[in-house]
Amino acid sequence: MFDYLGKNVVVVGGTSGINLGIALSFAKAGANVAVASRSKDKVDAAVAKLTIENPDGHHIGACFDVRDLDALSLGFEYIAAAFGTIDVLVSGAAGNFPASAEKLSENGFKSVMDIDLLGSFQVLKQALPLLKGKGGAIIQISAPQAFVPMPMQVHVCAAKAGVDMLTKTLAIEWGYKGIRINSIVPGPIAGTEGFDRLAPTQELQDHVAKGVPLRRNGSCEDIANAALFLASDMASYITGVVLPVDGGWSLGGAGAAIAEIGQLAKQKQS
Ligand code: COA
Ligand code: NAP
Repeated sequence: MFDYLGKNVVVVGGTSGINLGIALSFAKAGANVAVASRSKDKVDAAVAKLTIENPDGHHIGACFDVRDLDALSLGFEYIAAAFGTIDVLVSGAAGNFPASAEKLSENGFKSVMDIDLLGSFQVLKQALPLLKGKGGAIIQISAPQAFVPMPMQVHVCAAKAGVDMLTKTLAIEWGYKGIRINSIVPGPIAGTEGFDRLAPTQELQDHVAKGVPLRRNGSCEDIANAALFLASDMASYITGVVLPVDGGWSLGGAGAAIAEIGQLAKQKQS
């Protein structure tokens, strides 16, 4: 449906889960894709998958931790040498673990802030000189924690709220260059590290699905489809938007309860 033939796409944190799904979808649509993360094994495996998805594309991998500015900068030098310019940047590196604020150490809080928020800022700054004006698109991968307060997630709530403010602020600062930036907010996405960490059993994940108005947890493809759209010319007048792709979950998280009340009301009427 979307044609990215010959376009250069960079996905930071693109070696597993949701972001790898996004990288593969861009490759399938014809793009050359660069993925980056800390683990060389994961980077190599992701590049191999990209090559299977689109054997004609030029796919590369870079290893860096977004908290290490020197390594990040070297990684982008490597990407610049291979691609020259970037059409689409996806910034999605993140860390998460459940921890109560009382038990969370300063370093635990700082780790997530440094990866998700400061890391995203540094990634965006590194990518800016390579991004094509008039058509360059940035997609940040946020989370519902950015605007839905969640216990055991104070570090992620603070970091992802900041990520979305980067999106909104830079949409204004960089709009004159013709560069668009939007956030995608995935809901609960089945088969991913992030969801497994917060809901570690199938029973819990099924329970979460009952609270989604569309009555299912999402897939990596659901998120990739939104990314393909937001980075395309079809979205050329959309910037600074924070787009939940969550089956309606973030509308209140009360879907299941409301549905149960509705069922009870129906039963009473009949
Ligand atoms: N509960 C409480 N604190 C925790 C924790 C947990 N489950 N896991 C880590 N921390 C704390 C550590 O204790 C440490 O703090 P301390 O020095 O005061 O003891 C701090 O967080 C950093 O931990 P460390 O393991 O050194 O960090 P790291 O840089 O190696 O890894 C993480 C970063 C912690 C975010 C790690 O979970 C990670 O790499 N995540 C990437 C994958 C992921 O989270 N995927 C889901 C996508 S959102
Ligand atoms: P994941 O598979 O763990 O993906 C995280 C990616 O980031 C991996 O490629 C990881 O690779 C990389 N990464 C982590 N720390 C890094 C660092 N310091 N520097 C560079 N790369 C780093 O998790 P996921 O669940 O698919 O989550 C992907 C994104 O979606 C995240 O932004 C997350 O917040 C968001 N999200 C997920 C869900 C969900 O249901 N899963 C819901 C809402 C939002 P390495 O380990 O090799 O570094």
